[in-house]
Amino acid sequence: MNRLYAVTLVMISALALTGSAVRADKKITLGFAQIGAESEWRTANTKSIKEAADAAGINLKFSDAQQKQENQIKAIRAFIAQKVDVIAFSPVVETGWEPVLKEAKAAKIPVILTDRAVNTKDDSLYVTFMGSDFVEEGRRAANWLVDKTKDNPGPINIVELQGTVGSAPAIDRKKGFEEIIKDKPKYKIIRSQTGDFTRAKGKEVMEAFLKAEGKKINVLFAHNDDMAIGAIQAIEAAGMKPGKDILIVSIDGVKGAFQAMMAGKLNVSVECSPLLGPQLMAAVKDLMAGKTLPKRIVTTEGVFPMETAAKEFPNRKY
Ligand code: AHR
Repeated sequence: MNRLYAVTLVMISALALTGSAVRADKKITLGFAQIGAESEWRTANTKSIKEAADAAGINLKFSDAQQKQENQIKAIRAFIAQKVDVIAFSPVVETGWEPVLKEAKAAKIPVILTDRAVNTKDDSLYVTFMGSDFVEEGRRAANWLVDKTKDNPGPINIVELQGTVGSAPAIDRKKGFEEIIKDKPKYKIIRSQTGDFTRAKGKEVMEAFLKAEGKKINVLFAHNDDMAIGAIQAIEAAGMKPGKDILIVSIDGVKGAFQAMMAGKLNVSVECSPLLGPQLMAAVKDLMAGKTLPKRIVTTEGVFPMETAAKEFPNRKY
């Protein structure tokens, strides 16, 4: 009787061991719903995620929403239907995510937000949000400008190229920038419009700003480098010198911005790192191992004025 009991126990343990070994060996599947390919930043972000998934041995299901929220929602629903282990996405805009996030929660699939946040009352709908502090980036851009123009009595007329309407970086960068200049009356935002984070739109909107305000414009604040690069083309076409006649302040720190800084056409780029892939894969693995993640993981970033561009350029990874 005792022998039979012992043999059964051994068999059960062996089965349990095999079972957990299979579970440990099972490849984790991550569904990632990307915004699109609107900027140099986004291309680097996608590359970072794909490379990191590969290196971590994670099976990545990747979807490109072409800047449309409805496409991202469709992709997330498809990931739920496919029963992926984890869903991650970078929400194109802040609002309108509750229904699909509730569906993921009901299916017991954890969701990680990367790069951009959502605006929801129920923060149990996602596990963590990893990415930059966009308000701080806006503050950094304004602080650079305030310091650069401290001896200029003003008025200093600023035109602003905003990012995608309703997106976290557009809302927060504007907020941070305005927070710094609001009690300094010499700074005035005379025009502000979206350029949707793209070069083409940045150029088009800057052309309209130049038509309306011409030489009155002293500063361009662009919510990303791509729009600043598009705007530089418009400024040159209008016979003005970007970086001199108009100071250009932008955000991201992509290689294209460093090249523009080295050419003296862009004055400063506040860093926003797209290299979130390794951090995301580590978080996915931790989650699957049953660890608790911090609710907010903030990326560490710097500020690069044009004087530092040539020295920094060889170190840039995106
Ligand atoms: O969400 C990050 C922003 O999105 C980057 O600043 C911009 O370039 C991108 O398209």
